[in-house]
Amino acid sequence: MAQADLTEFIQPSAVIAEEHQLRRALGPVNLILIGIGAIIGAGIFVYTGTAAAQHAGPAVILSFVIAGFGCLFAGLCYAEFASMIPESGSAYTYAYATMGRFMAWFIGWNMVLEYLVSAAGVSSGWSGYFGSLLGDFGIHLPAAFMGPPIAGNGLGNMHLTGAIINVPAVALIVLLTTFLVVGVKETARFNGIMVMLKVAIVVAVIVFGLSYVRMEHLTPFIPPNEGHFGKFGFSGILAASGVAFFAYLGFEAVSVAAQEARDPRRDIPIGILGSLGICTVLYMLMAVVMTGITDWRTLDVPSPVSFAVSKIDGLKWLVTPINIGAVVGLASVVFVSLYGQSRVFFSMARDGFLWPQFASVHKQFHTPAYGTIVVGTFAALLAALFPFDVLADLVSIGTLAAFIAVCAGILILRVTTPKARRQFRTPYVWFTAPAGIFVCGVMMISLGWATWIRLVIWTAIGLAIYFAYGIKHAAPSKWKVANEA
Ligand code: ALA
Repeated sequence: MAQADLTEFIQPSAVIAEEHQLRRALGPVNLILIGIGAIIGAGIFVYTGTAAAQHAGPAVILSFVIAGFGCLFAGLCYAEFASMIPESGSAYTYAYATMGRFMAWFIGWNMVLEYLVSAAGVSSGWSGYFGSLLGDFGIHLPAAFMGPPIAGNGLGNMHLTGAIINVPAVALIVLLTTFLVVGVKETARFNGIMVMLKVAIVVAVIVFGLSYVRMEHLTPFIPPNEGHFGKFGFSGILAASGVAFFAYLGFEAVSVAAQEARDPRRDIPIGILGSLGICTVLYMLMAVVMTGITDWRTLDVPSPVSFAVSKIDGLKWLVTPINIGAVVGLASVVFVSLYGQSRVFFSMARDGFLWPQFASVHKQFHTPAYGTIVVGTFAALLAALFPFDVLADLVSIGTLAAFIAVCAGILILRVTTPKARRQFRTPYVWFTAPAGIFVCGVMMISLGWATWIRLVIWTAIGLAIYFAYGIKHAAPSKWKVANEA
C-alpha cells in the first residue's frame, strides 16, 4: 500500500491510475520524473545560498558533484534492496526483512528524520519564499510571526531571534495534513502540476541567468580557507557537500517504485541515474548562475534565488515567478514527506514497533488519520520553532547514517544470501557500496559537532522507545529472503 500510494502522489498527473491499484507499468521517463519531483525543493531554492556564503563560495558547484556521487552509490544499493522484497514500501521494510529487528528500527527511526523533520525543515524554508512573495504584492506581515524564534546552527551560536513563531510554516503543515487526513484525491493531480512548475522555474533561472554571469564573481573559484574546517578552501567544499546532500534527498522514491517498473533491472538504475544526473546538472548550473550574477557573500538570506535575480535589472521580472515556483514546489516536497512519514509509521506499527493506532485506518476517510495527525503535529511544532538549516542538517546526518547502513547491508546480503532472487543487482557492488559508505561518511563528518550531538540525542530517544516498547511488541518480519533463486 505504501508503495502504490506514495508513487501515486509523486508522479506526474499524466500517469496516475484511476484507482489505488497501481498495477500498470512505469517506464524510464516516468521513473525519472518521479525522482526529479521528489528531489527539487528547499535544498536548491534555499540552502545553496547558505552553502556558498558560509562554506564554499563558487566552489559549491563541486560540492553538488560530491553529494551527487554519494547519492548515486547509495541509490544503487537502495535499488537492490528494493528489488529483493516482494512488497516495497521503504528502506525500513527492506531492512526488517534482511537485517533483523534492531537495524529495522535504526533505519526506520532515521527515516523519521528523512520525512517528518524534513517536512518541518522544508516548511521553514518555504516560509522565506512565502514572505518574499507576499512582499511582491506589497503585503508585509509582522516579522515576529514570519520566522522561527531560534537561530544558529553551531554549538556556540544558537540564539533567540526576537520572533515568536513561524506562522506560515505551521499553517502549511496544518493545511497539508488536513488534505492527507481527508484524502483529497485531486491533490495527487495537483502535485503533478506543482512538480512541472518548479522544474520550469529552475530551467528559466538557468536559461535567462547564464548570460549575466560575470567571471569576477566566480574568481577565486575556491576562496582561501579562513583558518578552520569548513570555512572555504577544500574543507569548505566538503562542508558544503554535507549541506548540498539535502538537495538530493527524495531520489529513493524511484527505488520505492521498483515493483511497478516495466523492466526494473533496466529502468530502476535509469530512473535513479537519470533523476540524479539531471538534478546534478541543474544544481550545478543553478549554482553557477547564483554565484556568478551577484556577490556570493550576500546569499545567506531566506530566499537566495529570488534575491540574486533581483540584483540584475534584466532579470527582475523573474522574481515573482521564482517566488511562486518556490512556494508551490516546496509545498509539494512537504506534502510528499508528510505522506511518506505517515505510511512509514503505518508499516512500523503493523509490525509492532509502534502502538497499533498508527496502523489504524479512519472509517470515514480511509486514511491512517491518527498517524497523519501525530506526524503533522510534531512537524508543525518543529517548524514553528527551529530554523531551516538546523532541521536540514539533522535530516541529512540521519539519512546519511541510514544510507551507510543500506550500503553495508547490501554487502552483508551478498555474502549471507548470494543466491537470493534479485531483480536488480547493484553494479560493481564491491566498489559501489564501499564508495557509498566512504562518501556518505565524509559528508557526515563534515556536518559539524552540533549536528552530531543532535543525532546522538535523537538516537537516544529512539533507543528509549525501542527498548520500552518495540522490542517487546515487534512481530517477526513478514518477508523472508531465502537464499535461493
Ligand atoms: N531534496 C529535498 C529538498 O531539497 C528534500 O527540499
